[in-house]
This record gives sequence, structure tokens and C-alpha cells, in this order.
Amino acid sequence: MVEVRPSGAVLGADILGVDLSQPISAAAFGAIRGAWMQHLVLRFRDQRLNDDQLMAFSASFGALDRNPRHARGELRTVEDSSAYVNVISNVVENGKAIGGLGNYESLWHTDMSYNAIPPMASALYALEIPPSGGDTGFCNMYAALESLPPTLRQRIAGLSCVHDSSLNSVGQLRVGFEEVTDPRKTPGAVHPLVRTHPVTGRACLFLGRRRNAYIPGLELAESEALLDTLWAHAVKPEHCWAQQWQVGDLIMWDNRCAMHRRDEFDGNARRVMHRTQISGDRPF
Ligand code: SIN
Repeated sequence: MVEVRPSGAVLGADILGVDLSQPISAAAFGAIRGAWMQHLVLRFRDQRLNDDQLMAFSASFGALDRNPRHARGELRTVEDSSAYVNVISNVVENGKAIGGLGNYESLWHTDMSYNAIPPMASALYALEIPPSGGDTGFCNMYAALESLPPTLRQRIAGLSCVHDSSLNSVGQLRVGFEEVTDPRKTPGAVHPLVRTHPVTGRACLFLGRRRNAYIPGLELAESEALLDTLWAHAVKPEHCWAQQWQVGDLIMWDNRCAMHRRDEFDGNARRVMHRTQISGDRPF
């Protein structure tokens, strides 16, 4: 039987009593999905998954996205991995990085929100973890919106924001992009600052990523000031929860209403994660 154990923070819950390497009954899947809508980020501990099993579980939520393009200098070399399993790792083998993001801090972001149709969700499975560091933080964007002062909430109603496609979450320039020097010219999708979750119907703040963001229609200085205010509010500790990894953890987050970030870690330690992404729909 599926047991849901909330983290006690404003998001995050452990799901117990499920072996994700095996097919899941409709009833158990319904309970998992319900818990996911309520807690935004689910953790399944002590799993033993190969890529096929990771993909099969992820695909029960929706169609999988193909791997995103990697930043300059990063080569994905795991030839036997599916096109749908992305390796997140600092490990270098035979002079080549086996995955993306290295050991750097990854700043708060929503996965691929620079696309017109960002993914609905991501699942991240831990194969090797460093002795310390590399924790992954999550932020509840419903709570971020609901706790905004009413005047600020009114001010952002109807406004949108450009989500930068030039840099990845650790600040590396993506292949084919130039460095942005004026946020009014930032490349990337424009999304509403407040979006409605298509399943829960609840409104949440949708910030995506701070670097090079811009609110069209505002003076640059006004846009910067408003974004700084919104970001400082959104990522307050009371809106957040952090995952400290164990090997065998699978974390699944709702990319529509939760942002995430990662602590840096010792580059001499190994961290190997396999990740899937589930297709989403256009934010509204
Ligand atoms: C990510 O931003 O998707 C990676 C998170 C992590 O490595 O913990």
C-alpha cells in the first residue's frame, strides 16, 4: 500500500511502499499522482532502477521529452543510454564529461522554461552521490504567489516575462547563443508571471530564471527592480525544502509550480544522476 509522508515543509513528500522497478497498479498510481499534485515534489527512496525502468515510470505521467542540447564543451557520451535519459554528472571519463552541469552550483530555475512549451515534470534518480554537497532545493511557487502582498499581486497581474535561453542553470552559454548584454534583447519564450496549473487550477508565480530576465513593456530599471523583489520573495526559506541525496533516491518534481536549484560539491567526488523529462503544455 502506498504511504505518503509529507516532508513537513511547504512542499515535498516521501512515497513509501512502492517498488518503481515493477509495474504499478492503477490505484497506487492514482495515490502517487494525487500526492504529487498536493506536495509538488515526491521522493522515492531505496529504488534500484535501470534506464528502462526509470523511463517506464516517468512515462506513466506523460510523453517523455528527448534530451535537451548540452552547453558548449559538454559531450554526452553514454551511447547505451536512451535519447530520453539525460545524464547529470561531473564525472569525466577518458577526457570526456559523461553528463551535464559539472559540480557547479545550479541557480534557481524551472527546467527549459525558455521554451514555449516547457516540460511538465522531471525525474532525477541518484546512482552515485558525493559525501557532502550537491543537495537539490525546491521552491513552492503557489506559496510564493499566495504570500505576496496584495498590491504586488495586483501589480503583476497581466504582466509577462522573458525566460533566457542563452545560459544553462550553471551559467554556461548554450551552443549557438551570444552573451546577453541587454535583457530587453534576451532570447527565449515569454510567459505570464502568474500561471494557472492545468490540473489543480491553482495560480502560481512563474519566474523561470533570474539571469537576463525582462518584463516586456517596462523600463529596464523598473523590470529589474520588480524582478528582484519577486525573486527575493519567492525563494524565502519558508517556501523551500531541500533534498539530501542517498543512492537509490528518485525525486520527481512538478516543473509547472516548483523551481529547483543545486548546491555545488567537491569536483573530486563523483555524482551521477539519470534524469527524464515529461512533456508539458503552454503556460497560461
Ligand atoms: C537540475 O537542475 O536538473 C539538476 C539538479 C541536480 O543535479 O540536483
